[in-house]
Amino acid sequence: MSVLSVEGLGKSFSGLHAVRDVDLDVADQEFLGIIGPNGAGKTTLFSLLSGEQPPTSGRVIFDGTDITGWSADRTARAGLVRTFQLMRPFESMTVLENVTIAALSVRKSRKDARRHALEVLDRVQLSDQVGGVVSTMSTAGLKRLELARALAMEPRVVLLDEVLAGLVPAERAPMIDLLRSLHTAGQTVLFVEHIMAAVMALSERLVVMHEGAVLTSGDPRTVVEDPRVVEAYLGEETA
Ligand SMILES: Nc1ncnc2c1ncn2[C@@H]1O[C@H](COP(=O)(O)OP(=O)(O)O)[C@@H](O)[C@H]1O
Ligand SMILES: [Mg+2]
Repeated sequence: MSVLSVEGLGKSFSGLHAVRDVDLDVADQEFLGIIGPNGAGKTTLFSLLSGEQPPTSGRVIFDGTDITGWSADRTARAGLVRTFQLMRPFESMTVLENVTIAALSVRKSRKDARRHALEVLDRVQLSDQVGGVVSTMSTAGLKRLELARALAMEPRVVLLDEVLAGLVPAERAPMIDLLRSLHTAGQTVLFVEHIMAAVMALSERLVVMHEGAVLTSGDPRTVVEDPRVVEAYLGEETA
């Protein structure tokens, strides 16, 4: 059973096909990795899925409903949440206040939202920083906060665009463990990432994008050895 189905999805910016004719089915509880060289269209694909930008062609079916053209807000409330699409954290507020605001989209009272926020902060191991002010947090802390704000909305599907970017190597392993724990808990995840060790450690299936289109998809080990994939990345290094 697909929780998310994408049919012939496309986006062009005055003649440039950033995303072209993408078909994609995501199974419930799947951890799907999406890779591809810079400019392949990964972030634009996420923008189309999350309603941040309308597609120029194709359809997005989420949980059986055609959500093509829905606003980012409505899409997020329906349960398709992209970390990046959320508002920047409120710098002068505490970590708990920031997550409580996100939790208010799924909890009626402030008290329930606060309790839910505390649970989510525990899941992302930020319990020791609930009272901290966002402006003083490290990059690693901010990444966890960003994840917490998305999870607080109880997404059916979460879209993560380069959540490991900006982390030093020593900070990556704990973040990979955290993402793995989401998967174990049954969270459906679409994961765009450049750090291949993380992609290979987490992805059940891999989609490779190149020049806006899906180049290939399938078992991660098979996919990364595909000569067409190797060639797509070699092109990036030459450029
Ligand atoms: N708002 C925009 N206007 C014009 N071109 C864009 C816009 N957003 C992305 N693009 C172009 O679309 C292509 C895909 O970009 P992007 O989705 O960011 O790729 P990726 O995330 O895979 O690096 C690139 O050529 C990029 O320059
Ligand atoms: Mg990108």
